[in-house]
Amino acid sequence: TPELVQQVTTRLDRIESMLPELESYLVELQQGELEIDSKLNDFDLVTHADLASEKRLVEFIREHFPTDGIVAEEGSQDADEATRSDGFRWVLDPIDGTVNFANGLPMWAISIGLLHEGVQVGAIVSAPSLHLRYRAAKGQGATCNGRPISVNEKSPLAKGIVVTGFPYDRAKRAEPLCDALGNMLRTAGGVRRLGAAALDFCLVADGRFTGYYEMALKPWDTAGGTLIVQEAGGRVTDLAGGDYEIFESQAVVATNGLVHDQLIEAAAPLLRAIAID
Ligand code: IPD
Ligand code: CA
Ligand code: CA
Ligand code: CA
Repeated sequence: TPELVQQVTTRLDRIESMLPELESYLVELQQGELEIDSKLNDFDLVTHADLASEKRLVEFIREHFPTDGIVAEEGSQDADEATRSDGFRWVLDPIDGTVNFANGLPMWAISIGLLHEGVQVGAIVSAPSLHLRYRAAKGQGATCNGRPISVNEKSPLAKGIVVTGFPYDRAKRAEPLCDALGNMLRTAGGVRRLGAAALDFCLVADGRFTGYYEMALKPWDTAGGTLIVQEAGGRVTDLAGGDYEIFESQAVVATNGLVHDQLIEAAAPLLRAIAID
């Protein structure tokens, strides 16, 4: 409805208005001395910048949209957040690409997904060090720095670049992960691992990458980027070609649509990686 479109636009405009300050603050923090902690294992990092970014985003949303729900990676969500689906909910990754951030690389992003009654309706992914800010609203298309974007028309896979990522608990899944990667090396025009899922989606959306696949992503990694790909004319599914559900699916495939089946086939060894616990 036009009313819903207006509510989404208002929310995206509002949050975008606070981003320039947050972005320069994080760029500055990255250049200073970082306090780095690990979470699940030595590969899984969190810095005080992740926590500070989340705090600012959450405080801003609570102030401006007090009845909206929040799901955020570093733990600020309401207790019932995983199960509720009423009204608006924000799904936040305060810094996507923490390992890059902690190692001085520019490929990191703030990812913001907006859901209404459980449906993805709005998205912003901002990569300040790359000067890229993506935005999409359901049914309204996607933009980068205000300009409309669309996926590329490259097909088959050999004509373009595929990007992927690996989970933090990858050591025990190395074999099937390598099998999928081997298939990509044999079929794709190029293979990259940039280290920030939200950005990987956006670089499919704007036509730079032909496809992206990864297993074990969390809602905050995908809530923004998947909508941006779809609104740019791309396709996002799970490994079986079914709808990708941000709270449930085990792996994601996002492409320009043309190479989708070919990428799903090459990524099939991930099914074995998922089965390992
Ligand atoms: C990670 C990044 C990375 C992906 C991991 C994610 P984080 O998010 O998106 O590219 O491979 O699966 O967990 O921890 O940096 O927010
Ligand atoms: Ca993390
Ligand atoms: Ca992330
Ligand atoms: Ca993160």
